[in-house]
Amino acid sequence: MAISKVWISLLLALAVVLSPPAARAEEAAEEGIETASGAEAVLTLDADSFDEAVAKHPFMVVEFYAPWCGHCKKIAPEYEKAAQELSKHDPPIVLAKVDANDDKNRPLATKYEIQGFPTLKIFRNQGKNIQEYKGPREAEGIIEYLKKQVGPASKEIKSPEDATSLIDDKKIYIVGIFTELSGTEFTNFMEVAEKLRSDYDFGHTLDANHLPRGDAVVKKPLVRLFKPFDELVVDSKDFDVAALEKFIDASSTPKVVTFDKNPDNHPYLLKFFESSAAKAMLFLNFSTGSFESFKSVYYGAAEEFKDKEIKFLIGDIEASQAAFQYFGLKEDQVPLILIQDGNSKKFLKSQVEPDQIVSWLKEYFVSNFCTSKSNCDYLFLFI
Ligand SMILES: *[C@@H]1O[C@H](CO)[C@@H](O)[C@H](O)[C@H]1NC(C)=O
Repeated sequence: MAISKVWISLLLALAVVLSPPAARAEEAAEEGIETASGAEAVLTLDADSFDEAVAKHPFMVVEFYAPWCGHCKKIAPEYEKAAQELSKHDPPIVLAKVDANDDKNRPLATKYEIQGFPTLKIFRNQGKNIQEYKGPREAEGIIEYLKKQVGPASKEIKSPEDATSLIDDKKIYIVGIFTELSGTEFTNFMEVAEKLRSDYDFGHTLDANHLPRGDAVVKKPLVRLFKPFDELVVDSKDFDVAALEKFIDASSTPKVVTFDKNPDNHPYLLKFFESSAAKAMLFLNFSTGSFESFKSVYYGAAEEFKDKEIKFLIGDIEASQAAFQYFGLKEDQVPLILIQDGNSKKFLKSQVEPDQIVSWLKEYFVSNFCTSKSNCDYLFLFI
């Protein structure tokens, strides 16, 4: 079972402690006063006005919130500031909100599968296409992200300068390299770009020489995915829509997800915790001398078990207090490996040494998945 959305946001929120609790409470109170005065650019919708608004605005973002939710109070002034700025945008970008805690609006929350607050969704084409908002939560970031969301799903790269300005070293970027900007491959690529645009940035080009990394002598058409981890560039030639989505999904998670205070890792952590696959988590103190040897052994293990249905995480004890609480772990157990299988069953090995990691993982696989020697030959080879 996947971990609930509420817990995931808590796990991540606690990884980055921005300011002491007292200061935060004060800040929220001030923000509350600020938003209560003056005309709001954010549309307030309810069960009666919702469908009409969706039909009227070709591009609308809706925040489902609850009055008591702290994160909602924090985002409110940022959301309002973004709404003011974006109301002048052409084409118009409408920001709206719904009090999903109000009994009257509960059916809306159910219909749109709202599991935690705040949840922001993007409604396009009269609600025919609904996507989760996955952008930043402060005004500048919201504005930038949403401006991108109303433009084309994929931008053409016509020069190395285009590539430099579009491809961010710290983010995943997906480029289709074509011989012509038409045909089945191009159409399928654009369909996937439209579908996944709230998760990733897309571009297309006729010339691989414009692109920064990887082999420029390519046999077109080709999809090239740039990423800030592991092998940095990965290609695929399968333009089937489902295959393309699968390729993007599989390539866009690091072999080992890092749980530390770096916010760049949050999208990957989110995917990790949302996944219903089995999870292996190694928690230790990143500041200790043995960290590097743990890391190299663990990455080796992730490579060795890459075809297994298991995802890997390495977590710093300094950033993962919430995870310790959630999984019922104690600090004096580190370094520890915890496996949570697909049925939420847990397997724990405390005070693990680097050279025990691989054999312990094998033990886990053998005792849990091998009903007979024949279906686990692969694993027995190592024992
Ligand atoms: C992690 O290790 C550093 C260096 O040895 C130490 O100062 C710090 O207290 C440790 N953190 C925890 C939570 O044990």
